[in-house]
Formats: sequence, structure tokens, C-alpha cells
Amino acid sequence: MREPGGPAVLVSGGAGYVGSHVALALVEAGYRAVVVDDLSSGQGEAVPAGVELAVADAGDRGAVEALIERRSVAAAIHLADASGVDEPAARILRGAAAGAGFVEACRAGKVRRLVLTSSAAAHGAGAGPVNAYGASKLAAEEAARAVFAGPGRGCAVLRCFNVAGADPELRAGPRRGRGLVQAACEAALGLREGVTVFGADWDTSDGTCVRDYVHPSDVAAAHVAALRALELGAAGLVADCGTGRGHSVREVLAAVERVSRRALVVREGPRRPGDVARAVAKPERIRRLPGWRARHGLDAVVSTALAWTEALAWEGARRGAGG
Ligand SMILES: NC(=O)c1ccc[n+]([C@@H]2O[C@H](COP(=O)([O-])OP(=O)(O)OC[C@H]3O[C@@H](n4cnc5c(N)ncnc54)[C@H](O)[C@@H]3O)[C@@H](O)[C@H]2O)c1
Repeated sequence: MREPGGPAVLVSGGAGYVGSHVALALVEAGYRAVVVDDLSSGQGEAVPAGVELAVADAGDRGAVEALIERRSVAAAIHLADASGVDEPAARILRGAAAGAGFVEACRAGKVRRLVLTSSAAAHGAGAGPVNAYGASKLAAEEAARAVFAGPGRGCAVLRCFNVAGADPELRAGPRRGRGLVQAACEAALGLREGVTVFGADWDTSDGTCVRDYVHPSDVAAAHVAALRALELGAAGLVADCGTGRGHSVREVLAAVERVSRRALVVREGPRRPGDVARAVAKPERIRRLPGWRARHGLDAVVSTALAWTEALAWEGARRGAGG
């Protein structure tokens, strides 16, 4: 039986870092969001208040199809994937299987629009994926675009760069250690000893890797803008989701020192396998989405990450003290 309240947007992985920002942005834009998440790396408390959470594998066709039917789902956003560049093959394959099952359930459930959260790793340094994670993302993109091709259907692929920072009102943020910005914030707050720079001999201005750090609220706004574009009849879109500005590891560390007013202990380590010297978005396509621009620069990324990390540490201490 269909529920009243208008069509919903189904968000897989909405209890995770990026997904919780996407769910927030959907609600703020007036959509009814429903989250499906197996909580393998996400947490129920990350799902915004008032948004339904169905705990299930996004690749479980039966469960997702039933949810689509029950909640009158008209569009879907697929983020559920706990894999990454450094992850073992089994985890990458699990993410790919979840994606295939989710897209198939959407097709069977007659969902007409899909926004797929992909990664810069899908095009590597411009000549195709350089690691297994990127290859699996590229395969997922191609499958989703093929399934959602044709009249009345549409698929938007957003290739996210390095998402970092937290919701400025601290309603969402990263919940598990990840990435340079968070590591540096934890070090600045005395929650870890220091930060390691992986490779100082890259062919870049200061020898460290250059990345495009994009704020999760900007990424979430891009997802909503892409969904709107599909609703207005756009057939499809494949776009880099980033600011178009690159910052080296040393520039990020300097920003954390400047914003936190603390000196960091910095170590140098070897290059990590699968890394590339430079990954910066080509933002021309995403800037064509009406109303979208990257509103947060590096200092906003760092200041929100610092505030969030500090709030989490206080919360952890309060819980530890039984408060
Ligand atoms: N964080 C980044 O910098 C970044 C960059 C590029 C792309 N992405 C992509 O964004 C998406 C979200 O990443 P994130 O950083 O928020 O990770 P995350 O681990 O915080 O979130 C992933 C969420 O998906 C859920 N999940 C994983 N497998 C699932 C499954 N089979 N069924 C249901 N739920 C499942 C997890 O519980 C979690 O809540 C991923 O597709 C990721 O590849 C992230």
C-alpha cells in the first residue's frame, strides 16, 4: 500500500558522512527523504531528525523494491559504499555488488531518476582509473547510465573529490577517522600525536600531493541541484564535484595551524600505493547546474572540521564519564 505525503527520494548510505549531508540538504529543499543503510560504517544518529531510516543492505533487491513501493519513491541517490582507495578487494567488490543490486531494484521499482555518487578515482589523473576502487566506480557509472537511459529517465553522476569539513551548524560531520583534514584537526586538538605526509617527492610545487578539498554541504547541494536538473528534463550528466582549486598537503597543514593557532608535529612517510600527484576537479560541468557553486573554501573546510572534531571529542568524554 502506498503512503500519503508525496513521492520520496531514497538515499542509500544516508547514515554515512556524505549521505547525512545529502539527507539534510534534501529536507531543507522540501523533499521527503528515506534512508536505506546497513550501518556497516554509518550510524543511525547521523540520519537527520524526521528522516526515516530503513536498516538494510542497499544491494538487497527485495528489501529496496519493497521500500520503493511502500514510500512511493520517485528518485534515488546512491551513496552506499564503504570502500575506498586503500581498501581490500573484498570490500570493493561488496560495494560494487550493493550498487548493482540497488540500481536493479530502482529499475524494477520504476524509479525514473538516479543520482550516483562516484569518485574522482573513476578518472584517476585523467587517463582512466589507476586503482581497483576507481575501476569499480567507473563500472558502476556505466551500468547506472545504461539502465537509466531512455525517455523519461535520467542519471546524474557526481565524481566527488576530497570531501572534508562538517555542516556549519554541526548537525552532520565525519564520524570515523578519515583523510588528511580530519587527522590534522585531531592532531591540533591533541587527540593524536601528529600527522604523516605520505610522499614529499611528488612532482608538485612543494613535493606533496595536491587535492581538491570540497565541503560536504557543497557536495550535498550539488546532489540536490543534479536531482532538480533531472526533474526538469535533463537526460543525464557526468560531472566532477569539486571546487576546481588544488591545495597541497603542506598547504592544508598550514591552514589547520593557522585556523587552530596550534603547531602540528609533522612526519614524512613513504608514498601510498594508488596515490597520484594531483587530483583537482574540472568544475565547468557542475557549475552549469543552476544555483550551484562551491561556497566553502579551504579555511571553511578546516574551521568546520575543527569545530566538529572538538564537539565529538567532548561528546565522547561526556559519554565516557557516564554523563
Ligand atoms: N568522503 C569522500 O571524500 C568521498 C570522495 C569521493 C567519493 N565518495 C563516495 O561517497 C559515498 C559516501 O562516502 P562516505 O565518505 O560518506 O562514506 P561513509 O562510509 O561515511 O558512508 C557510506 C554509508 O553507506 C553505508 N553502506 C555501506 N555499504 C552499504 C550497503 N551494502 N548497504 C547499505 N548501506 C551501506 C554505510 O553504513 C555508511 O553509512 C561513497 O560512494 C564514496 O565512494 C566519498
